[in-house]
Amino acid sequence: MSETNETNIVGEQVDGQPGEQKVALVTGANKGIGYEIAAGLGALGWKIGVGARDEARREAAVAKLRAGGINAFGVPLDVTDDSSVTAAARLIEERAGRLDVLVNNAGITGGGPQEPTRVDPDRVRAAVETNVIGVIRVTNALLPLLRRSPSPRIVNVSSSVGSLTLQTTPGAETGPISAAYAPSKTFLNAVTVQYAKELAATNILINAVCPGYTATDLNAFQGVRTPQLGAVSAIRLATVPDDGPTGRFFSDEGEIPW
Ligand SMILES: NC(=O)c1ccc[n+]([C@@H]2O[C@H](COP(=O)([O-])OP(=O)(O)OC[C@H]3O[C@@H](n4cnc5c(N)ncnc54)[C@H](OP(=O)(O)O)[C@@H]3O)[C@@H](O)[C@H]2O)c1
Repeated sequence: MSETNETNIVGEQVDGQPGEQKVALVTGANKGIGYEIAAGLGALGWKIGVGARDEARREAAVAKLRAGGINAFGVPLDVTDDSSVTAAARLIEERAGRLDVLVNNAGITGGGPQEPTRVDPDRVRAAVETNVIGVIRVTNALLPLLRRSPSPRIVNVSSSVGSLTLQTTPGAETGPISAAYAPSKTFLNAVTVQYAKELAATNILINAVCPGYTATDLNAFQGVRTPQLGAVSAIRLATVPDDGPTGRFFSDEGEIPW
């Protein structure tokens, strides 16, 4: 494998040839499922941008990943902030020159209560701003770098509670009644499909995944799966071959209906 040994403006080596070390950005990678997605992709020998808004938590995650032998670097990133996202794209260009995989993992529930008849509209707005508009903002800022990859992949971390098919199937497990979090994931699913349609003629594969009910801060650690298990479906879709799926929705047990 050839090495270009290019250096960037801060004198660090930049990955040169496509096909060498892959480069991924995981949003919300300082903890929970995002951290484990970063750890899992890093264990494949990839260079990992740890996207996170809180400096101390971001640097702690980077240090922990590096201590495990992973080539991780911190990417200051608030997905709700245009200038933060623009700066993150610039940083990745400097550090890596391209992006092979974007995992849009950052997400919030919006807090409770969320029953439609009494939800505070600000909770709905907040969930959509992070879980949907944040994904669009980050994806579009990173697309120029993804287009430089020979095999670009985008993975949107959604939830089965966003499946309208499951929500309307009697007896299906669909989580609590929600006018903010669940519909924000339905919206994210719909946006994923629209990206897949627009990008169908390119080599970019984009899919949504559900990690399953996972013990993280998001649910006060009530989930029943470990974050490592929650990361499995995202890692799988981040590493699908060129003839892999696009515009589809998966858990680690198989395909989920939209
Ligand atoms: N846990 C589950 O059972 C479950 C089930 C289905 C889907 N999911 C999805 O899985 C993803 C990860 O959730 P998790 O369970 O790992 O929750 P988590 O532990 O609360 O992690 C959420 C991550 O998103 C980050 N984040 C939130 N808002 C952000 C923003 N504006 N900009 C940048 N980062 C932001 C958080 O950063 P801070 O530390 O700065 O807050 C944190 O790193 C989410 O999309 C969630 O909806 C989770």
